[in-house]
Amino acid sequence: MLDRLEPQSPDALLALIKLHAEDERPDKVDLGVGVYRTGQGATPVFGAIKAAEQRLVEEQESKSYLGPEGDMGFVNALMPYIFGEDATMGGRISGMQTPGGTGAVRLSLALAQKAGMTKLHMGTPSWPNHAQIINDLDLEWQAFDHANPDGTANLDAVLAAINGAGPNEGVLLHGCCHNPTGIDYTPDQWDAIGDAIAKTGVFPIIDTAYQGLGQGMEEDAAGLRSVLAKVPEAFVAYSCDKNFGMYRDRVGAFYILADGGDTLDKAFSNANALARASWSMPPDHGAAAVRVILRDPQMTEQWLDELDQMRERMRQVRARLAEAGVAGSVDLTPLGNQNGLFSVLPVTKEQVAQLRKDHGIYMAGSGRINVAGLTMDNIDKFIAAIADVTG
Ligand code: LMR
Repeated sequence: MLDRLEPQSPDALLALIKLHAEDERPDKVDLGVGVYRTGQGATPVFGAIKAAEQRLVEEQESKSYLGPEGDMGFVNALMPYIFGEDATMGGRISGMQTPGGTGAVRLSLALAQKAGMTKLHMGTPSWPNHAQIINDLDLEWQAFDHANPDGTANLDAVLAAINGAGPNEGVLLHGCCHNPTGIDYTPDQWDAIGDAIAKTGVFPIIDTAYQGLGQGMEEDAAGLRSVLAKVPEAFVAYSCDKNFGMYRDRVGAFYILADGGDTLDKAFSNANALARASWSMPPDHGAAAVRVILRDPQMTEQWLDELDQMRERMRQVRARLAEAGVAGSVDLTPLGNQNGLFSVLPVTKEQVAQLRKDHGIYMAGSGRINVAGLTMDNIDKFIAAIADVTG
């Protein structure tokens, strides 16, 4: 039976981790998978997480099952950061824990499909795993252009997709720090998107995996909140893997906004059943550590401080790239106005391969770079290498 299976190539992005590890050149540069790196190139565990883990070791009394919704203390503690002061929007939001942001995206799409969503609109380029999940669910989807060639968001395209969508169709949006382009909608653009969604009844699914890494915790939630304020129903897929540095611990959450009462309960019960049938219960440890932080004002301050430092470093790297201007045929200026870990450079697959071979620079074949992989020690080498392969 198994010989009927077609071989699958390994995930190209994750394959880069291995390729980079195998490269013996001491000055190699990893701009591949999306993890934050310090100015020394390390991805340390947050101090606040270490403190919370210590407390868990001392105080956790049981590892008995919690249920498909996971640690609800974690789920609820996150809500004011995502949704603002009225964290449940008057009792209209319920959430549950998921294995990472990927689990939340998967649950969002599977539940939307179960509720009758016939087609999904998605701006491209997008995080490659979006398309992989959509295709695995056999969902019909249609792409629109997310970005203009000048490095700004293509508002016309997203509005055309929403306004042209039929009944029971959805749109997948990135809440902030768009992956891979780093190009976020402006507040006015979010306003127009929310209005269009409210007018057409398209179902919004907002993937927020980088809150705090763009402009700030509040600023990065503003777009999402402006849409939610205008619509009756929505899903939010949330990840703590980056803003708490919990990558391999897989810390995520899924939230449902509904018109309250019966609808919210029904939707939540279906999410519960889907989770049970998929992973039964999410892994506990990372979410428990995040809960400990968010319930302790001092640890929360420490965490927010660490997040500020990460954001500040990435802004410095972006400013340095923008300042370099044009390298070869690549204009680096727009990177200064983009947000989060990623930006896309207009380079060919061959040029990406040449960067790897000749310069030991590892980046996704799409031209995406993780700006956090750049440090004051390797940034000039990177700019010179781009000039070399594209000049
Ligand atoms: C990335 O885009 O690099 C991250 O979100 C990691 C992943 O799972 O793809």
